[in-house]
Amino acid sequence: MRFSFSNFGRNRSTMATINTLEQYQQEYQKSVNDPEGFWAEKAEQFVWKKKWDSVLDWNFSEPKNKWFIGGKLNITENCLDRHLEKRADQIAYYWEPNDPHAKAVSYTYKQLHEQVCKFANVLKNNGAQKGDRICIYMPMVPELAIAVLACARIGAVHSVVFGGFSASALSGRIQDSDCKIVICTDGAYRGAKGIPMKDTVDEALEVCPSVEKVIVLEHTQSNIRMVEGRDVMWKNEMEKVNADCPAEPMDAEDMLFILYTSGSTGKPKGVVHTCGGYMVYTQYTFENVFNYREGEVFWCTADIGWITGHSYIVYAPLLSGATSVMFEGVPTYPDAGRFWQVIDKYKVNIFYTAPTAIRALEVAGLDFVKPYKLDSLRVLGSVGEPINEEAWNWYNINIGKGKCPIVDTWWQTETGGMMISPIAGVTKTKPGFATLPLPGVQPILVDDKGNEIIGNGVEGNLCIKFPWPSIIRTTYGDHERCRQNYFATYPNLYFTGDGCKRDEDGYYRITGRVDDVMNVSGHRIGTAEVESAINMHADIVESAVVGYPHDIKGQGIYAYVICTNKNKDQEALRKEILAEVTKVIGPIAKPDKIQIVSGLPKTRSGKIMRRILRKVAEGEMNNLGDTSTLLDPNVVEEIKAGAL
Ligand code: PRX
Repeated sequence: MRFSFSNFGRNRSTMATINTLEQYQQEYQKSVNDPEGFWAEKAEQFVWKKKWDSVLDWNFSEPKNKWFIGGKLNITENCLDRHLEKRADQIAYYWEPNDPHAKAVSYTYKQLHEQVCKFANVLKNNGAQKGDRICIYMPMVPELAIAVLACARIGAVHSVVFGGFSASALSGRIQDSDCKIVICTDGAYRGAKGIPMKDTVDEALEVCPSVEKVIVLEHTQSNIRMVEGRDVMWKNEMEKVNADCPAEPMDAEDMLFILYTSGSTGKPKGVVHTCGGYMVYTQYTFENVFNYREGEVFWCTADIGWITGHSYIVYAPLLSGATSVMFEGVPTYPDAGRFWQVIDKYKVNIFYTAPTAIRALEVAGLDFVKPYKLDSLRVLGSVGEPINEEAWNWYNINIGKGKCPIVDTWWQTETGGMMISPIAGVTKTKPGFATLPLPGVQPILVDDKGNEIIGNGVEGNLCIKFPWPSIIRTTYGDHERCRQNYFATYPNLYFTGDGCKRDEDGYYRITGRVDDVMNVSGHRIGTAEVESAINMHADIVESAVVGYPHDIKGQGIYAYVICTNKNKDQEALRKEILAEVTKVIGPIAKPDKIQIVSGLPKTRSGKIMRRILRKVAEGEMNNLGDTSTLLDPNVVEEIKAGAL
């Protein structure tokens, strides 16, 4: 059956459908009893170029997860074109610059549509075709969202790399997916600092032969080198094109984007999301979790370099025809009142941020909050890491004034959208709890052997037993890695890597990673990645990295290193290690503490006993558990004595 552009997706609402607890329960039941019927109904609200032949084909053993099979669409038609009739002049983005005195800019839906179509033509002029991978390495400027949507418009696959990553991290990601084009800026502002983005790209591209073109947006007016034949300027290219760019018809299961994320082993994995299911799921969760109401102003403070920015700055708010704030800066510049000032300036109704920012602003003190009214706020959100009760209460009382529901949303790069979360105004909240699964999400707790843990008042490893529309499809270029990482630990379950409690009320509380992944200021960093960066230092033979509780960052990075050069000055060594990690990964992965040791606690089979290292880093010296299998127990005494 064929559906034309005009008769499908017309009568959609842009409002939450769950407004009472009863409605939540009904939706949830329906989503479990008849997942295909449930999601088909949600999908019908969109514009499809051709309707799907079947809704779902799945198994978790290969794994295979396909949604809306045979359906054809272009997500940008749903984000932009279909809004032009009703909301052409409505603001899509208010852009707030890093410097509060610099010029703020806004884009209406019509203007955004025009810019996206034009830049899509620029991409085509520079050789981009459907299926090509395009790397985007930019700060939070509106052109970042425009570049993302322009890729989607022509069916190119975007791979956004967070602007804080180093040249080496950038080149690894470009190489892994053979990107043909890189889009960047000359430089970036971050608080009082200037960052040379283009220089980093130039360095990265020394080892990236797949890249044919670099499109550079002028932003900081800094001096840059342009490579003849390879580098072109955004502005010049935009002058050559018009705004007529028909949207490429995409299969529901065609790749929409790759986003790299850290795991417990090896280099970062390219998580792949596809067009149809991702679109349906992100919009549904956006509207319902935040109880979005037409005309409201939404602000998600994440960076588009992470999944939160992909789903809830770019795609979902536009799919819903919402007005969003996009912010270039940091929460503490020029002072710790910046978030609150921006909320008042744009009369933000829904505010979505990370616990690490809340904790940092709490420490800065209420003097930075008091000058602002914050009376436009209706809903507050939290994402990225467990939120401690104290931060939750501070957020609730001082920012929400006790009247804004807090939605603590648990999800992951791999899940594409929010999974366990309160529904604003509907679910009774409890500090520190992500509360209940959203419709379509079937969580299960298992013990280390994979046995289901039934009942309430229990704790275990968090898995999901049924696919939802935006589940990870594969890891780019290596499907087996996807299977191994997420679907092999417990047969027929998707394993999240998180530990979780289910309390007496059946509420879920995420306790943190149970694998070797750290969560530092909401950024996911693999211990193995940091170790391999440290080991690049010529004087280091071996290292072990663990996370430890940190008041602001949630987790800090604690590195134990073995240095071969006994005469080396320890402070100099620490500085060099920090420089090495910054060079290989980026400043976000710099260890907070570096302890120089003569050996690491190993079992007789040579395995590092991380449990012991974690305990020492946590300061729990007298509670190391069983150390009888250690090869050399003296090492532990030395480590304890030198703990930082
Ligand atoms: O450990 C969980 C934590 O962040 C991990 C996912 O990180 P990433 O893929 O970078 O995505 C972050 C943004 C969605 C999870 O495995 N996490 C995320 N949200 C929460 C959380 N932990 C506790 N509570 C949350 N609300």
